[in-house]
Amino acid sequence: MDYEHVREVDPAVADALSGEVTRQNETLAMIASENHVSEAVLEAQGSALTNKYAEGYPGKRYYGGCQYADDVENLAIERAKELWGAEHVNVQPHSGTQANQAVYFAMLDPGDKILSMELSHGGHLSHGHPANFTGQLYEVESYEVDPETGYIDYEELHAMAEEFEPDIVVSGYSAYPRTVDWERIQAAADAVDALHLADIAHITGLVAGGAHPSPVGIADFVTGSTHKTIRAGRGGIVMCDEQYAEDIDKAVFPGGQGGPLMHNIAGKAVGFKEALDPSFEEYAAQTVRNAKALADRLQEHGFSLVSEGTDNHLVLVDLRPSHPDTTGGDAEEALEETGIVLNANTVPGETRSAFNPSGIRIGTPALTTRGFDEEDLRVVADCIKQVVDAPEDEDVKAEAEATVAELCDANPLYE
Ligand SMILES: Cc1ncc(COP(=O)(O)O)c(C=O)c1O
Repeated sequence: MDYEHVREVDPAVADALSGEVTRQNETLAMIASENHVSEAVLEAQGSALTNKYAEGYPGKRYYGGCQYADDVENLAIERAKELWGAEHVNVQPHSGTQANQAVYFAMLDPGDKILSMELSHGGHLSHGHPANFTGQLYEVESYEVDPETGYIDYEELHAMAEEFEPDIVVSGYSAYPRTVDWERIQAAADAVDALHLADIAHITGLVAGGAHPSPVGIADFVTGSTHKTIRAGRGGIVMCDEQYAEDIDKAVFPGGQGGPLMHNIAGKAVGFKEALDPSFEEYAAQTVRNAKALADRLQEHGFSLVSEGTDNHLVLVDLRPSHPDTTGGDAEEALEETGIVLNANTVPGETRSAFNPSGIRIGTPALTTRGFDEEDLRVVADCIKQVVDAPEDEDVKAEAEATVAELCDANPLYE
């Protein structure tokens, strides 16, 4: 990827773009919400559709010249329906947050009540955090994971629903390593006639690939990102039954967005086609196997994991028991020096701050895309152990860096 046209016009940006490709090739992307799309998806996202205004929906646009925009959006919709089995799909949200926004805007009035997971226990900003519009427009109550087990306390959630009587219950998380029991959350919502939004942003690909149970057909609304465990480029998606289709479509456009990003929708269409290939099921299963191998080895090394393991694509390490003087930020920084890129994360019962919390979140979707297997993840876990034990030791970091370079060379990414 030499970005020759960009280079002619703007060498500074070309340098940054090439630098980013090199960075991705030469480091391990272990941020649980990241992945590497194929060159086909990159090409679609960089296509001439970026020029096209296509406000409206296929067949009902507010602009002329939309025949190819219609083709692409129809393909994305049909493929999404096949992947997740939803009756209605809207592929226009620019991001996962805007997908959630569309559901709230369609179904709630200001002042209505949201019951959702506390951010520091794995929830997301767009589920009602005070800094987000959701926290300012709606009345929000938060449920938490069981402090002992790290699992969702479904009984407590149910009791809270009965006490608070929310208009909508939000499930789906940013840092929850366990399988979600959608039926139990649906039961809590049903008990108080609340709607249920299942935000599968993190696990869209695991659900599509059969590696996590699906909330489609259980929850009223399912939202997701298209760039985390599925490799369809940056964006969002809303799924629902036909009865809500019109309300959701109106809430996305014109309710919350203007012209759709047709080039991104082309990326979604291509990424969804790739995910319909039978090999994607194996990818999803391998992503989980890799996370389990990582979790097991980290535990053997004495790390404390929230919920003591994982069922999905991520592992959440609470550093406090094993490394009381090392913050998540310290670990993130030292590991990045070796080429292991992950993020500091809050943990249930957080005693530090959201800015420099006590945990690290580690994901396997991107490494699995590169072809890493369980043995590779065990090697990565060994590197993490060595570096987090001695974050200031330059020799240790140099050794880990060499191991990372070997792993990257053995599993090439972009040319
Ligand atoms: C549970 C959840 N919902 C929504 C989002 C928002 O996605 P986006 O960054 O595409 O807006 C995220 C992002 O990480 C998430 O984890």
